[in-house]
Amino acid sequence: MSESPKREQWASRIGLVLAMAGNAVGLGNFLRFPAQAAKNGGGAFLIPYIVAFIVLGLPLMWIEWTMGRFGGQYGHHSTPGIFDSMGRRKFWKYFGVFGLWANLIIAAYYLYIESWCMAYAGFSLMNGFAETAPKEFFAKLTGDTPNQIWAISTWGMIIFGVCIAINIGILSRGLAKGIEIVSKIGMPLLIVFAAILAIRGLMISPATDSHAVESPMVGLNFVWEPKFDSLTNPAVWLAAAGQIFFTLSIGMGSMHCYSSYLRKDDDVTLNGASGAWTNELCEVVLGGTILLPIAVAYLGLTKVQEMVAGGSGFGLGFMVFPKLFNYWGSFAPLAGFLWFGLLFFAAITSSLAMGQPIMAFLQDEFKFSREKSALAFGAMLLPLALPVAMLHSASFFDEFDYWAGTFSLVVMAVGEAVLFAWIYGVDRGWNEMMRGADLKVPRAFYWIMKYVTPTFLILILVTSIFKPQAGWEKYVASVTSGTEAPQWEWASDGMIGKLLHKDLPLKEGATPEEVAFNQTLKVVRTVDRGAMLAAFAGFAILVSIAWRKREAEGRNTP
Ligand code: ALA
Repeated sequence: MSESPKREQWASRIGLVLAMAGNAVGLGNFLRFPAQAAKNGGGAFLIPYIVAFIVLGLPLMWIEWTMGRFGGQYGHHSTPGIFDSMGRRKFWKYFGVFGLWANLIIAAYYLYIESWCMAYAGFSLMNGFAETAPKEFFAKLTGDTPNQIWAISTWGMIIFGVCIAINIGILSRGLAKGIEIVSKIGMPLLIVFAAILAIRGLMISPATDSHAVESPMVGLNFVWEPKFDSLTNPAVWLAAAGQIFFTLSIGMGSMHCYSSYLRKDDDVTLNGASGAWTNELCEVVLGGTILLPIAVAYLGLTKVQEMVAGGSGFGLGFMVFPKLFNYWGSFAPLAGFLWFGLLFFAAITSSLAMGQPIMAFLQDEFKFSREKSALAFGAMLLPLALPVAMLHSASFFDEFDYWAGTFSLVVMAVGEAVLFAWIYGVDRGWNEMMRGADLKVPRAFYWIMKYVTPTFLILILVTSIFKPQAGWEKYVASVTSGTEAPQWEWASDGMIGKLLHKDLPLKEGATPEEVAFNQTLKVVRTVDRGAMLAAFAGFAILVSIAWRKREAEGRNTP
């Protein structure tokens, strides 16, 4: 066994804030946010989004920073130990497994998208999209073919492998020399790249550009013009809260991990808020000014809304966008490079944050060296990443995104909000948070953390488990205005609906090939769920071994 590694620390405050912002700013800001806004009525999305930011995003951000710094004082840098140091029961360390598991599962598909960004950036710079349609390029890169379960592309897998190796290499250099340096370079570059594209996009004018059908202002207006009718629609609230979780990396365990490297009296309030605001700047201002306004200018609002309705921003970003840059003449190769370059920087600063908690766990509990734990992370990732790359995206990729990238974030957020406010105690929690605080958080947040955040979270959890296809509003209306309640059917994007494969309906008149594919997909998804459960059980066993070791060595936390 190697020697206990020296306690790592952030080298500078700016480095810490940029690393934290890099953790949050990711593909979610530039692809997922515009798509969610378009799907949920543009400005109609904005009000629930801002409310969710204030009552969920900011409080949970401070809670995670505070918990992380607290656990760090006892030598814990991942959620099993951090939760264990705050909770009074053994159960909490097992609950903390979510903060390892979610990172591993999300990394398995997130890194795949990150590798696409690398491939697209290079191909754009070579002016490849002048000749090749992005859809064709995408199909070659991923090997995805309709109704085929295998999706193998040799060079797509090589690029994926290179991308994983880059991440492991950076992680093995440690916090200050690896993650912090990459964030210090990547974050400013990303903002500059995004600003260039946003400004160029806003200069599109149907008067001077024959390809433009609208002014980009139509897209911008669509995102920003508040529409109050959404306030009564639970589906929009759910989507807004889901976006806040994903974009701020809440409920993943990565924020806890980064803040566990703070010193006892280091500020968490101003740093936490700065990270969150930087993320919002990148999301709403930059993210909201690139994809939608440019796509709307060239394709029209209705077409763009249709495009994102059934999918995500990923289709628009990878299959449509590179084609639109061709309208920018000689600037097209560079524009494509800037777009995919910024996506790559956004992604890598987030994917590093997914690897660090797992490495920290191995370093803390099993005294692994940095290099060894980085390699161990790679070894854990491989069996999950391979099926993501080798099978149709509707199997492992989509399932990982739902269970780890969406559902589990809410589960973990509920647990940590309850742990902080009700188990550890909101008074102690508040004092802990305000120690060394450079920002005096308004007292209203004390009450928000105690009552509003947990209640809101439990409501979100319950409504995302029991989600009817017709929408809760129809059932509410049947009680309030006496209309007839629709027959109950599980929603395809609710937890129970997902469990029952409601999101894999068989179209009427499906061909035998489509029927066979549908059945195979259901079988593969069942295998995939088994793999996720096995990963969770594996981490739980490691936690159990680690704590037995702690007891034997007499180093359990109070
Ligand atoms: N927060 C990261 C993102 O937005 C995961 O992509």
